[in-house]
Amino acid sequence: MSTKVSVVSVLITLALLNIATVQSYKILFLAPFNGPSHWFMLKHFIRELTNRGHEVTCITGIKFGEPLGNYTEVLIDPAYPLRDKFPLSELYNSQSYSSDLNNLFLYWRLGLATSRHGLESANVQNFLKRNDLHFDLIVSEQFFQESWLMFAHKYNAPIVTISTYGYSDFMDRAMGLLTPWSCVPHMLLDYEHGMNFFQRSYNVLLSTFDYMLREYYYMPEMNKMAKEFFGDLEETGVPLPSVQSLEKSISVILVNSHPTLAKPRPTMVTLVSIGGAHIRPPKALPQELQRFMDEAENGVIYFSLGAYMQSSAMPIEKRKTLLKVFGKLKQRVIWKFETDQIGNLPKNVMISKWAPQNDILAHKNMVLFISHGGQFGTFESMYHGVPTLFIPFFGDQHRNAIRAVRSGYASKILFADITEESISSQIHDLLYTEKYRRRAKEISAMFRDTPVDPMNASIYWMEYVTRHKGAPHLKFSAVKHSVLEYLLLDVLGAAVLVLVLLIFVVRRCICKKSKQIVDKKKQH
Ligand SMILES: *[C@@H]1O[C@H](CO)[C@@H](O)[C@H](O)[C@H]1NC(C)=O
Repeated sequence: MSTKVSVVSVLITLALLNIATVQSYKILFLAPFNGPSHWFMLKHFIRELTNRGHEVTCITGIKFGEPLGNYTEVLIDPAYPLRDKFPLSELYNSQSYSSDLNNLFLYWRLGLATSRHGLESANVQNFLKRNDLHFDLIVSEQFFQESWLMFAHKYNAPIVTISTYGYSDFMDRAMGLLTPWSCVPHMLLDYEHGMNFFQRSYNVLLSTFDYMLREYYYMPEMNKMAKEFFGDLEETGVPLPSVQSLEKSISVILVNSHPTLAKPRPTMVTLVSIGGAHIRPPKALPQELQRFMDEAENGVIYFSLGAYMQSSAMPIEKRKTLLKVFGKLKQRVIWKFETDQIGNLPKNVMISKWAPQNDILAHKNMVLFISHGGQFGTFESMYHGVPTLFIPFFGDQHRNAIRAVRSGYASKILFADITEESISSQIHDLLYTEKYRRRAKEISAMFRDTPVDPMNASIYWMEYVTRHKGAPHLKFSAVKHSVLEYLLLDVLGAAVLVLVLLIFVVRRCICKKSKQIVDKKKQH
């Protein structure tokens, strides 16, 4: 009997080992951009991959900071000085990042700077010098770090990218699709689908501008950078591919987008919406926080401006205004605040340096979220069905806010417009108008209603791409065509040419004939 059991257990162990060897991949994870909220999201993917037995090596500007098996870190140290380059005081005091062109250049400037900073880092340089490593898959954040795609060439591995901020037209192009600018607004625009004439005109203008500048300025810069840092690889005799062609070789882009917030657009099987993947089942809260929320008879408001816009750096008068407004409410307020020095704290307000946002939003007593409108928090509020007051600052925050307001569960206020009257009237409106609550619940139900859990879908695609060596069979052949060919302008040109020729020939024939007739008449 016992031998039988041991035989069975040996067999099971063998089977498991077999699965482990078949399914365990070596993955190089690239996260050179050190925006804290981005990293929070990417960590979920890393954790999930390692939990499933994959070996992850990650190049990152921020430490993982928790024990994790199967995980090796290459730290960009010191990290890119994000806060010196984009000072909070500037963000709090101006609107300079709210224009479309500013936003576009902000992304590119940030992308070029962080990419270079990472590649120059000593640890990354040492990592690049090693030739004893092998990877089955490159997973890279898709956030303006295109020069890093050259890692895929170095390791001859397929690429999956994760777009933390949603869709852009160039992702369509990487998959061989041209975005129809007649119907799909540029990523920076908050137009609803069904644009009017002027909106379409502006959309074409901005999209063309983006396309041309990316093609003739930004991507060549990225290409130059890649040549500079990976040039040694050419010694093997194989010329470096261009970053542009590597972008076209991306197997799958996992896009942090959700149809509940963003409108549908033409897509490819290799563009996968995984909005909400970072939202995990809620865990128990720290004791103090749990009690504070449990005992809130009139509900809890959670106020956080995210990981970047630290509330403690906010101008003092605004902070005082907010505390005054919060102090007058019946609800309890949790304010994510990064220092202990907030001054006189009203009884119903609690500050918390580190707040487990997802777990707080999941609490049954949550009645309102006051947020800067980052993509991650916006999805969390939708998932948990919490009405939201947006205070957007930069990047995609304005767009997220406008979309959420339009979908009926939120309202927004600019930081500069915050006064005691303005913000308390908006808070009251959101708290005591039934429609926001109802709509938030409807949206939550839609948000959760997906055929596959988005994190599971993400892992599936990463494994699929690795299993099938980049899955080239899924790549739309249009990536090989120029825009001219894609739009059939060459065929159209040829057709026009043939037509012109035909007209020319026919006219000559007619001329000849009529001349002959005239000549014949003359003879008579
Ligand atoms: C995700 O996949 C795992 C493993 O296949 C499964 O155990 C889990 O239930 C899935 N999660 C969800 C939310 O579907």
